Amino acid sequence: MVKKKMLKALNQQINAEMYSSYLYLSMESYFQSISLAGFANWMRGQVQEELMHSMKFYDFVVERGGRVTLDAIARPESSWDSPLDAFKAILKHEQHVTALINDLVDLAIDERDHATNIFLQWFVSEQVEEEASVGAIVDRLELIKDTPSGLFMLDAELAKRVFTPAAE
Ligand code: FEO
Repeated sequence: MVKKKMLKALNQQINAEMYSSYLYLSMESYFQSISLAGFANWMRGQVQEELMHSMKFYDFVVERGGRVTLDAIARPESSWDSPLDAFKAILKHEQHVTALINDLVDLAIDERDHATNIFLQWFVSEQVEEEASVGAIVDRLELIKDTPSGLFMLDAELAKRVFTPAAE
């Protein structure tokens, strides 16, 4: 049975992951509005991935005999100045999520909750990957600047992303 303090923190993380999904859905809509379908497709992958993260926490809470309680999901931003601006915002957001995961690990250690600590290790590794993949796109957008041909090439590349839950 998961302890009260840990349960509260895990429930908050369900909300944080749902918010991530919602934020990326808002970004998908932004990219569709500026006719960058490949970027929008990449964002759809993010939307699904974050939902999967949220459900992982949900299922873990249930498995540990805890009660999932859902909170309101905050309203995400709806527009960005450029693709670079949006991807910088994603990187910043993912760094924030990494800090949240690290705080959860610290709490699991403090509470001597070994099961939760082991469960969280998947997310520790996942955040390394997330920051790296988003950071690589930020770097490329910095190089591209306002060159349309570069943007369209990256758009074509991001159009190829297919979300595969089994590979997560
Ligand atoms: Fe669920 Fe992108 O962190």
